[in-house]
Amino acid sequence: MHAKEIHLASRPTGEPVPDNFRTVTTELPPLEDGQILVRNIVMSVDPYMRGRMNDVKSYVPPFRLDTVLDGGAVGEVIETRNDAFSVGDAVSHGKGWRDIAIVDGKGARTVDLTQAQASSYLGALGMTGLTAYSGLTAVAQFKPGDTVFVSGAAGAVGSLVGQIARKLGAERVIGSAGSPAKVARLLELGFDAAFDYHDGSVKKQLAHAAPDGIDVYFDNVGGDHLEAAITSANKYGRFALCGAISQYNSTEPSSAPRNLALAIGKELTLKGFIVGSYGHLTEEFSEKMTQWIADGDVEWDETVVDGLENAPQAFIGLLRGENTGKMIVAI
Ligand SMILES: NC(=O)c1ccc[n+]([C@@H]2O[C@H](COP(=O)([O-])OP(=O)(O)OC[C@H]3O[C@@H](n4cnc5c(N)ncnc54)[C@H](OP(=O)(O)O)[C@@H]3O)[C@@H](O)[C@H]2O)c1
Repeated sequence: MHAKEIHLASRPTGEPVPDNFRTVTTELPPLEDGQILVRNIVMSVDPYMRGRMNDVKSYVPPFRLDTVLDGGAVGEVIETRNDAFSVGDAVSHGKGWRDIAIVDGKGARTVDLTQAQASSYLGALGMTGLTAYSGLTAVAQFKPGDTVFVSGAAGAVGSLVGQIARKLGAERVIGSAGSPAKVARLLELGFDAAFDYHDGSVKKQLAHAAPDGIDVYFDNVGGDHLEAAITSANKYGRFALCGAISQYNSTEPSSAPRNLALAIGKELTLKGFIVGSYGHLTEEFSEKMTQWIADGDVEWDETVVDGLENAPQAFIGLLRGENTGKMIVAI
Protein backbone atom coordinates (compact mmCIF):
# COMPACT_ATOMS: atom_id res chain seq x y z
CA MET A 1 0.00 0.00 0.00
CA HIS A 2 1.31 3.45 -0.93
CA ALA A 3 0.52 6.76 0.79
CA LYS A 4 0.82 10.30 -0.53
CA GLU A 5 2.32 12.49 2.22
CA ILE A 6 3.25 16.14 2.74
CA HIS A 7 6.75 16.46 4.21
CA LEU A 8 8.47 19.49 5.72
CA ALA A 9 11.24 20.23 3.19
CA SER A 10 12.72 23.25 5.00
CA ARG A 11 11.89 25.43 8.00
CA PRO A 12 10.07 28.68 7.10
CA THR A 13 11.62 32.04 7.92
CA GLY A 14 8.75 34.46 8.44
CA GLU A 15 5.76 33.55 6.29
CA PRO A 16 5.81 29.93 5.03
CA VAL A 17 6.14 29.42 1.25
CA PRO A 18 5.25 26.41 -0.94
CA ASP A 19 8.94 25.40 -1.18
CA ASN A 20 8.91 24.63 2.57
CA PHE A 21 6.76 21.59 1.71
CA ARG A 22 7.23 18.51 -0.49
CA THR A 23 4.71 15.88 -1.68
CA VAL A 24 6.17 12.38 -1.33
CA THR A 25 4.82 8.91 -2.15
CA THR A 26 5.81 6.34 0.48
CA GLU A 27 5.37 2.59 0.67
CA LEU A 28 3.65 1.69 3.96
CA PRO A 29 4.77 -1.31 6.07
CA PRO A 30 2.21 -4.00 7.04
CA LEU A 31 0.04 -3.19 10.08
CA GLU A 32 1.24 -4.26 13.53
CA ASP A 33 -1.03 -5.45 16.34
CA GLY A 34 -3.16 -2.59 17.69
CA GLN A 35 -2.92 -0.54 14.50
CA ILE A 36 -5.55 0.46 11.95
CA LEU A 37 -5.19 1.63 8.36
CA VAL A 38 -7.22 4.75 7.63
CA ARG A 39 -8.15 6.42 4.34
CA ASN A 40 -8.33 10.09 5.30
CA ILE A 41 -11.36 12.10 4.19
CA VAL A 42 -10.54 15.53 5.64
CA MET A 43 -7.62 17.06 7.54
CA SER A 44 -7.10 20.19 9.57
CA VAL A 45 -4.54 22.94 9.17
CA ASP A 46 -4.07 24.91 12.40
CA PRO A 47 -2.10 28.00 13.41
CA TYR A 48 -0.14 26.08 16.11
CA MET A 49 1.54 24.10 13.32
CA ARG A 50 3.51 27.22 12.39
CA GLY A 51 5.31 27.07 15.77
CA ARG A 52 6.11 23.39 15.21
CA MET A 53 7.87 24.30 11.95
CA ASN A 54 10.52 26.18 13.96
CA ASP A 55 13.29 24.18 15.56
CA VAL A 56 12.46 25.30 19.09
CA LYS A 57 11.17 23.54 22.18
CA SER A 58 7.50 24.17 22.93
CA TYR A 59 4.57 22.32 24.47
CA VAL A 60 4.58 20.10 21.36
CA PRO A 61 7.82 18.90 19.77
CA PRO A 62 8.93 20.54 16.49
CA PHE A 63 8.16 18.84 13.17
CA ARG A 64 11.17 17.00 11.76
CA LEU A 65 12.63 17.91 8.39
CA ASP A 66 12.05 15.47 5.50
CA THR A 67 9.36 13.74 7.52
CA VAL A 68 5.60 13.70 7.10
CA LEU A 69 3.77 16.44 9.03
CA ASP A 70 0.95 15.50 11.37
CA GLY A 71 -2.27 17.00 12.70
CA GLY A 72 -5.98 16.32 13.08
CA ALA A 73 -7.78 14.23 10.46
CA VAL A 74 -10.94 12.17 10.02
CA GLY A 75 -11.06 9.08 7.83
CA GLU A 76 -12.44 5.62 7.23
CA VAL A 77 -10.87 2.42 8.55
CA ILE A 78 -9.89 0.22 5.58
CA GLU A 79 -7.93 -2.45 7.47
CA THR A 80 -7.66 -3.28 11.16
CA ARG A 81 -5.53 -5.20 13.61
CA ASN A 82 -7.32 -3.67 16.59
CA ASP A 83 -10.52 -5.27 17.99
CA ALA A 84 -11.93 -1.88 18.97
CA PHE A 85 -12.28 -0.88 15.29
CA SER A 86 -13.99 -2.46 12.27
CA VAL A 87 -13.47 -1.82 8.59
CA GLY A 88 -15.85 1.01 7.61
CA ASP A 89 -15.67 2.82 10.97
CA ALA A 90 -15.09 6.57 10.77
CA VAL A 91 -12.32 7.75 13.10
CA SER A 92 -10.81 11.01 14.24
CA HIS A 93 -7.04 10.85 14.79
CA GLY A 94 -3.76 12.78 14.62
CA LYS A 95 -2.19 11.50 11.38
CA GLY A 96 -3.20 14.18 8.90
CA TRP A 97 -1.14 15.54 5.98
CA ARG A 98 -1.40 12.16 4.14
CA ASP A 99 -4.09 10.26 2.25
CA ILE A 100 -3.56 6.84 3.87
CA ALA A 101 -2.44 6.64 7.51
CA ILE A 102 -1.28 3.90 9.83
CA VAL A 103 -2.80 4.87 13.18
CA ASP A 104 -2.25 3.35 16.61
CA GLY A 105 -5.73 2.49 17.91
CA LYS A 106 -4.97 4.38 21.15
CA GLY A 107 -4.71 7.57 19.11
CA ALA A 108 -8.06 7.15 17.31
CA ARG A 109 -11.65 7.87 18.36
CA THR A 110 -14.71 6.57 16.52
CA VAL A 111 -17.00 9.33 15.24
CA ASP A 112 -20.53 9.11 13.84
CA LEU A 113 -20.84 10.45 10.30
CA THR A 114 -24.61 9.98 10.38
CA GLN A 115 -24.79 12.61 13.15
CA ALA A 116 -22.43 15.18 11.65
CA GLN A 117 -20.16 15.58 8.63
CA ALA A 118 -16.52 14.49 8.93
CA SER A 119 -15.11 18.03 9.01
CA SER A 120 -17.23 19.07 12.01
CA TYR A 121 -15.17 16.67 14.18
CA LEU A 122 -12.15 18.85 13.36
CA GLY A 123 -14.12 22.05 14.01
CA ALA A 124 -17.17 22.79 16.15
CA LEU A 125 -17.42 19.27 17.59
CA GLY A 126 -13.67 18.72 17.87
CA MET A 127 -10.55 20.36 19.28
CA THR A 128 -11.61 23.76 17.93
CA GLY A 129 -14.93 23.71 19.75
CA LEU A 130 -13.40 22.43 22.97
CA THR A 131 -10.82 25.24 22.82
CA ALA A 132 -13.59 27.84 22.55
CA TYR A 133 -15.72 26.27 25.29
CA SER A 134 -12.99 25.52 27.81
CA GLY A 135 -11.21 28.83 27.24
CA LEU A 136 -14.37 30.83 27.81
CA THR A 137 -15.88 28.86 30.69
CA ALA A 138 -12.98 27.30 32.60
CA VAL A 139 -10.10 29.67 31.82
CA ALA A 140 -11.84 33.07 31.61
CA GLN A 141 -14.48 31.95 34.14
CA PHE A 142 -17.26 33.51 32.07
CA LYS A 143 -20.36 34.64 34.01
CA PRO A 144 -23.77 35.67 32.60
CA GLY A 145 -23.84 39.45 32.28
CA ASP A 146 -20.18 39.68 31.20
CA THR A 147 -19.15 41.82 28.25
CA VAL A 148 -16.86 39.65 26.11
CA PHE A 149 -14.31 40.66 23.50
CA VAL A 150 -12.82 38.02 21.19
CA SER A 151 -10.13 38.65 18.57
CA GLY A 152 -9.73 36.49 15.47
CA ALA A 153 -13.50 36.38 15.82
CA ALA A 154 -14.37 35.17 12.31
CA GLY A 155 -11.95 32.25 12.60
CA ALA A 156 -12.71 28.72 13.75
CA VAL A 157 -12.23 29.21 17.51
CA GLY A 158 -13.25 32.88 17.67
CA SER A 159 -16.62 32.52 15.92
CA LEU A 160 -17.59 29.78 18.38
CA VAL A 161 -16.42 31.78 21.41
CA GLY A 162 -18.74 34.66 20.51
CA GLN A 163 -21.74 32.44 19.89
CA ILE A 164 -21.19 30.39 23.07
CA ALA A 165 -20.88 33.60 25.10
CA ARG A 166 -24.20 34.80 23.61
CA LYS A 167 -25.86 31.50 24.41
CA LEU A 168 -24.56 31.55 28.01
CA GLY A 169 -25.96 35.01 28.69
CA ALA A 170 -23.30 37.58 27.84
CA GLU A 171 -24.37 41.21 28.20
CA ARG A 172 -22.48 42.19 25.05
CA VAL A 173 -20.22 40.31 22.62
CA ILE A 174 -17.64 42.14 20.51
CA GLY A 175 -15.40 40.66 17.83
CA SER A 176 -12.51 41.86 15.69
CA ALA A 177 -11.60 40.41 12.30
CA GLY A 178 -9.63 41.22 9.18
CA SER A 179 -12.15 42.20 6.49
CA PRO A 180 -15.52 43.93 6.01
CA ALA A 181 -17.09 40.63 4.89
CA LYS A 182 -15.91 38.94 8.10
CA VAL A 183 -17.28 41.82 10.20
CA ALA A 184 -20.67 41.48 8.43
CA ARG A 185 -20.65 37.73 9.11
CA LEU A 186 -20.02 38.30 12.84
CA LEU A 187 -23.06 40.57 13.07
CA GLU A 188 -25.12 37.85 11.33
CA LEU A 189 -23.88 35.34 13.90
CA GLY A 190 -25.26 37.49 16.72
CA PHE A 191 -22.23 39.54 17.80
CA ASP A 192 -23.42 42.90 19.16
CA ALA A 193 -20.51 44.78 17.63
CA ALA A 194 -17.60 43.94 15.36
CA PHE A 195 -14.77 45.86 13.72
CA ASP A 196 -12.05 45.38 11.12
CA TYR A 197 -8.68 45.82 12.81
CA HIS A 198 -7.29 47.27 9.55
CA ASP A 199 -9.62 50.26 9.93
CA GLY A 200 -7.48 52.05 12.52
CA SER A 201 -6.31 51.77 16.11
CA VAL A 202 -7.62 48.61 17.79
CA LYS A 203 -7.62 50.50 21.09
CA LYS A 204 -9.96 53.22 19.72
CA GLN A 205 -12.22 50.79 17.88
CA LEU A 206 -12.59 48.57 20.95
CA ALA A 207 -13.27 51.55 23.24
CA HIS A 208 -16.00 52.63 20.82
CA ALA A 209 -17.54 49.12 20.63
CA ALA A 210 -17.38 48.62 24.41
CA PRO A 211 -18.25 51.97 26.02
CA ASP A 212 -18.75 50.27 29.41
CA GLY A 213 -15.52 48.26 29.17
CA ILE A 214 -15.00 44.49 28.85
CA ASP A 215 -15.05 41.79 31.53
CA VAL A 216 -13.63 38.92 29.47
CA TYR A 217 -11.07 38.94 26.69
CA PHE A 218 -10.50 35.78 24.63
CA ASP A 219 -7.16 36.44 22.95
CA ASN A 220 -6.38 34.72 19.66
CA VAL A 221 -4.12 37.45 18.30
CA GLY A 222 -1.83 39.02 20.95
CA GLY A 223 0.11 42.24 20.32
CA ASP A 224 -1.98 45.36 19.76
CA HIS A 225 -5.22 43.46 20.44
CA LEU A 226 -4.01 42.37 23.87
CA GLU A 227 -2.86 45.90 24.62
CA ALA A 228 -6.28 47.31 23.62
CA ALA A 229 -8.08 44.73 25.76
CA ILE A 230 -5.98 45.63 28.82
CA THR A 231 -6.90 49.28 28.31
CA SER A 232 -10.64 48.49 27.94
CA ALA A 233 -10.74 45.92 30.75
CA ASN A 234 -12.97 46.54 33.74
CA LYS A 235 -11.74 45.88 37.27
CA TYR A 236 -11.23 42.11 37.85
CA GLY A 237 -11.33 41.46 34.09
CA ARG A 238 -10.42 37.90 33.06
CA PHE A 239 -8.32 37.09 29.99
CA ALA A 240 -8.01 33.66 28.33
CA LEU A 241 -4.72 33.74 26.41
CA CYS A 242 -5.44 31.22 23.65
CA GLY A 243 -3.14 32.31 20.83
CA ALA A 244 -1.01 35.15 19.49
CA ILE A 245 -1.30 34.67 15.74
CA SER A 246 -0.08 38.20 14.98
CA GLN A 247 3.35 36.98 16.10
CA TYR A 248 3.59 33.48 14.59
CA ASN A 249 5.40 34.59 11.42
CA SER A 250 7.36 37.38 13.14
CA THR A 251 11.10 37.32 13.19
CA GLU A 252 11.19 40.14 15.79
CA PRO A 253 9.70 40.09 19.31
CA SER A 254 6.37 41.92 19.70
CA SER A 255 6.47 45.43 21.15
CA ALA A 256 2.90 45.20 22.52
CA PRO A 257 1.41 45.03 25.08
CA ARG A 258 3.16 48.09 26.51
CA ASN A 259 0.54 48.63 29.22
CA LEU A 260 0.75 45.40 31.21
CA ALA A 261 1.23 47.34 34.45
CA LEU A 262 -2.44 48.42 34.19
CA ALA A 263 -3.27 44.80 35.10
CA ILE A 264 -2.10 45.53 38.65
CA GLY A 265 -4.51 48.32 39.51
CA LYS A 266 -7.38 46.65 37.63
CA GLU A 267 -6.58 43.33 39.38
CA LEU A 268 -6.84 41.47 36.07
CA THR A 269 -6.38 37.73 35.66
CA LEU A 270 -4.44 36.77 32.50
CA LYS A 271 -4.31 33.00 32.07
CA GLY A 272 -2.73 31.07 29.21
CA PHE A 273 -4.08 27.64 28.36
CA ILE A 274 -3.62 24.61 26.14
CA VAL A 275 -6.78 22.77 25.11
CA GLY A 276 -5.11 19.43 25.86
CA SER A 277 -5.27 20.28 29.57
CA TYR A 278 -9.08 20.53 29.39
CA GLY A 279 -9.85 17.05 28.04
CA HIS A 280 -11.94 16.42 31.17
CA LEU A 281 -14.53 18.87 29.76
CA THR A 282 -14.95 16.92 26.50
CA GLU A 283 -18.16 15.13 27.45
CA GLU A 284 -19.82 18.22 28.95
CA PHE A 285 -18.77 20.24 25.90
CA SER A 286 -19.91 17.64 23.33
CA GLU A 287 -23.35 17.33 24.92
CA LYS A 288 -23.90 21.09 25.01
CA MET A 289 -22.45 21.81 21.57
CA THR A 290 -24.49 19.02 19.92
CA GLN A 291 -27.65 20.52 21.46
CA TRP A 292 -26.75 24.11 20.54
CA ILE A 293 -26.11 23.08 16.94
CA ALA A 294 -29.37 21.07 16.81
CA ASP A 295 -31.27 24.08 18.19
CA GLY A 296 -29.66 26.41 15.64
CA ASP A 297 -27.97 28.47 18.39
CA VAL A 298 -24.47 27.84 17.09
CA GLU A 299 -23.45 27.89 13.44
CA TRP A 300 -20.05 27.33 11.99
CA ASP A 301 -18.40 28.28 8.73
CA GLU A 302 -15.82 26.31 6.81
CA THR A 303 -13.38 27.21 4.09
CA VAL A 304 -12.62 24.01 2.20
CA VAL A 305 -9.52 23.53 0.05
CA ASP A 306 -9.65 20.50 -2.24
CA GLY A 307 -6.79 18.05 -2.60
CA LEU A 308 -4.01 16.89 -0.29
CA GLU A 309 -1.39 18.48 -2.56
CA ASN A 310 -3.03 21.87 -1.80
CA ALA A 311 -2.71 21.44 1.98
CA PRO A 312 0.44 23.66 2.14
CA GLN A 313 -1.46 26.43 0.33
CA ALA A 314 -4.38 26.00 2.75
CA PHE A 315 -1.98 26.38 5.67
CA ILE A 316 -0.28 29.44 4.17
CA GLY A 317 -3.73 30.92 3.46
CA LEU A 318 -4.89 30.29 7.03
CA LEU A 319 -2.09 32.47 8.38
CA ARG A 320 -3.05 35.18 5.85
CA GLY A 321 -6.72 35.17 6.85
CA GLU A 322 -8.03 33.49 3.69
CA ASN A 323 -10.44 31.43 5.80
CA THR A 324 -13.79 32.25 7.36
CA GLY A 325 -14.43 29.70 10.08
CA LYS A 326 -12.48 26.45 10.05
CA MET A 327 -9.90 25.86 7.32
CA ILE A 328 -10.36 22.28 6.10
CA VAL A 329 -8.53 20.27 3.46
CA ALA A 330 -10.72 17.71 1.65
CA ILE A 331 -8.46 14.83 0.67
N1 LIG B 1 -4.39 27.32 23.27
C1 LIG B 1 -4.86 26.32 22.55
O1 LIG B 1 -4.95 25.18 22.98
C2 LIG B 1 -5.32 26.61 21.14
C3 LIG B 1 -6.05 25.65 20.40
C4 LIG B 1 -6.51 26.00 19.12
C5 LIG B 1 -6.21 27.25 18.59
N2 LIG B 1 -5.46 28.12 19.34
C6 LIG B 1 -5.16 29.47 18.85
O2 LIG B 1 -6.39 30.09 18.58
C7 LIG B 1 -6.22 31.05 17.55
C8 LIG B 1 -7.25 30.80 16.47
O3 LIG B 1 -7.02 29.51 15.90
P1 LIG B 1 -8.02 28.92 14.80
O4 LIG B 1 -7.67 27.52 14.59
O5 LIG B 1 -9.40 29.28 15.16
O6 LIG B 1 -7.58 29.73 13.50
P2 LIG B 1 -8.47 30.75 12.69
O7 LIG B 1 -8.83 31.88 13.59
O8 LIG B 1 -9.57 30.01 12.02
O9 LIG B 1 -7.49 31.23 11.55
C9 LIG B 1 -6.49 32.13 11.80
C10 LIG B 1 -6.98 33.57 11.60
O10 LIG B 1 -6.06 34.46 12.22
C11 LIG B 1 -6.23 35.74 11.66
N3 LIG B 1 -4.94 36.43 11.59
C12 LIG B 1 -3.85 36.10 10.88
N4 LIG B 1 -2.87 37.01 11.07
C13 LIG B 1 -3.38 37.95 11.91
C14 LIG B 1 -2.87 39.16 12.47
N5 LIG B 1 -1.61 39.58 12.21
N6 LIG B 1 -3.66 39.88 13.29
C15 LIG B 1 -4.93 39.48 13.55
N7 LIG B 1 -5.47 38.33 13.06
C16 LIG B 1 -4.70 37.59 12.24
C17 LIG B 1 -6.83 35.54 10.27
O11 LIG B 1 -8.11 36.16 10.24
P3 LIG B 1 -8.31 37.73 9.92
O12 LIG B 1 -8.78 37.81 8.52
O13 LIG B 1 -9.34 38.13 10.93
O14 LIG B 1 -6.99 38.41 10.11
C18 LIG B 1 -7.00 34.03 10.15
O15 LIG B 1 -8.19 33.65 9.51
C19 LIG B 1 -4.78 30.93 17.08
O16 LIG B 1 -4.01 31.91 17.72
C20 LIG B 1 -4.38 29.54 17.56
O17 LIG B 1 -3.00 29.43 17.74
C21 LIG B 1 -5.01 27.81 20.57
